[in-house]
Amino acid sequence: MTTAVQTGRTVKLEILRQDTEGGATRWEKFEVPYRPGMNVISALMAIQQNPVTVDGKETSPVTWDMNCLEEVCGACSMVINGRPRQSCSALIDQLEQPIKLEPMSTFPVVRDLQVDRSRMFNALKKVKAWVPIDGSYDLGEGPRMPERKRQWAYELSKCMTCGVCMEACPNVSEKASFIGPAPLSQVRLFNAHPTGAMNKDERLAEIMGDGGLANCGNSQNCVAACPKGIPLTTSIAALNRATTVQMFRNFFGSDHMVD
Ligand code: SF4
Ligand code: FES
Repeated sequence: MTTAVQTGRTVKLEILRQDTEGGATRWEKFEVPYRPGMNVISALMAIQQNPVTVDGKETSPVTWDMNCLEEVCGACSMVINGRPRQSCSALIDQLEQPIKLEPMSTFPVVRDLQVDRSRMFNALKKVKAWVPIDGSYDLGEGPRMPERKRQWAYELSKCMTCGVCMEACPNVSEKASFIGPAPLSQVRLFNAHPTGAMNKDERLAEIMGDGGLANCGNSQNCVAACPKGIPLTTSIAALNRATTVQMFRNFFGSDHMVD
């Protein structure tokens, strides 16, 4: 057992391990030296330096994803004590011990706590979650948005594709086609942009089909789980209205509408 040199305190962790995608899982217990201000990532780094379980058994270093370390990139999401969240902003002092770490279950496990979030990125591609511009020359300033619209659009733009809302949603799974709350909210964001609106009807067509809006079960788990406080259910309600209008436009054979 490892003991802390300075404080004498330790941090106890239980980690769900998995060596390969689809491979067998096992729980392993670790105990690392405590330092004030530690987060879950610094505890994982301590395990990486000395991958030995509490029983003194040598094991492989635990694998996880991370990048920004300041809750901006979304890469370090995992289930911590039963709640999906970012491990970089999960402070040891605020967590009950033993701290249980598991990979998010909505995404395929690559190894240990590292998951493959491709499903979310593919959904963003499917709904054209970008503003198409010609980047080959200086376009100057972009079009201005009304301030009220800009304010809510800015909130939606805070999405860091962390996958937490997808994990919290009971309708998102490997077996289901639902694209999930984050990609839906991005449809609202890019349809609100004056240039992005050029592809508005294409985005709406995507979410009116299989795996789109109709697959939302309105559990409202997503909005409660989002670490960025993104109003996901407001986005979904707004998209329900937009797709209803689009349905009438399609029915009456309207021209390509961009407003
Ligand atoms: S909407 Fe929120 S919870 Fe979902 S991926 Fe974006 S930041 Fe994460
Ligand atoms: S490392 Fe980027 S959100 Fe945690």
